[in-house]
Amino acid sequence: MAGTDETPIVRLGLDDAAAGLLLSTEAHWNQNEADWRFFLTKGAVFGVRDSDGHLVASAALLPYSSGNAWISMVLVTESWRRRGLATRSVDACLAAAAKQGLTTWLDATPAGASVYGPLGFKPTLQLRRLRLEHAMSTKAEAPPSLSSVDTATLAARDRLAMGFDRVDLLTELGGRSGSRLVSNGDALALVRDGRKARHIGPLLATSPEQALTLVNEIVRSENGPLLIDVVFEQAPFLDGLTRSGWKIERPFQRMRFGDAAPPPAQLPFAVAGPEYG
Ligand SMILES: CC(C)(COP(=O)(O)OP(=O)(O)OC[C@H]1O[C@@H](n2cnc3c(N)ncnc32)[C@H](O)[C@@H]1OP(=O)(O)O)[C@@H](O)C(=O)NCCC(=O)NCCS
Repeated sequence: MAGTDETPIVRLGLDDAAAGLLLSTEAHWNQNEADWRFFLTKGAVFGVRDSDGHLVASAALLPYSSGNAWISMVLVTESWRRRGLATRSVDACLAAAAKQGLTTWLDATPAGASVYGPLGFKPTLQLRRLRLEHAMSTKAEAPPSLSSVDTATLAARDRLAMGFDRVDLLTELGGRSGSRLVSNGDALALVRDGRKARHIGPLLATSPEQALTLVNEIVRSENGPLLIDVVFEQAPFLDGLTRSGWKIERPFQRMRFGDAAPPPAQLPFAVAGPEYG
């Protein structure tokens, strides 16, 4: 293998979706090819190829609105780790963001946080990834009282929780086959496909009780495993989920590049996923 000095950071294209998926699958992540295609189409994705042309590292910058952007899909294949590839790939994202005047955010795994801290990212919210092994809709259950909600309504609530608009993202995720935008009155959420499990989030509500009721109704209307990325500060919601059989899989640390930001007007209960924030 060539040393990292000879391995340039390159901009990836739509043809790299399958190779990107190999990297995220190696890390046991839940993203599917639709996610990679979205990053490669709407964002700037950087990476490193080995001398045979195989993709060995990636990092994506996804611009949102009002000068904000998300960095994600920071992945390095096992045999290329600890040679600075993640640092250099994220640096490429930061340089692209600086050129466009974008403030960058990300949701870091513990290993990722070790890379981002020295680059100048500061911690904000903490998240917990939870998994429910067996969501099971059965005919014996009462039908769930879920109604569908439109993207504009979800986007308006999401804006309060993020501090900026993500209608394009929510239109994309909500428009995929298999996606559902659901509400039980006050609480609302997106449910979408992932590679290994269906994912709930963002989930917005005005009380933990309403948020928990919505999750329970979603569970009764879904089959198979489910994932949700809960805002740790929403302690009663998190406790309610763990009491209902959800298991904490891993922490994520939300980080922002540069100075601390003012807190959002309304905390979400669950986020759209660490790759999207
Ligand atoms: C996290 C990951 C991207 C790091 O990639 P990498 O190319 O090895 O990172 P770098 O070589 O740029 O690391 C820079 C520094 O970050 C720290 N670091 C990197 N990986 C670390 C780990 N697993 N544990 C502790 N510190 C780590 C070290 O200080 C390292 O410097 P050093 O090697 O001189 O000690 C890679 O391990 C990976 O793909 N992991 C699985 C997916 C993942 O968690 N991605 C991050 C998503 S937020």
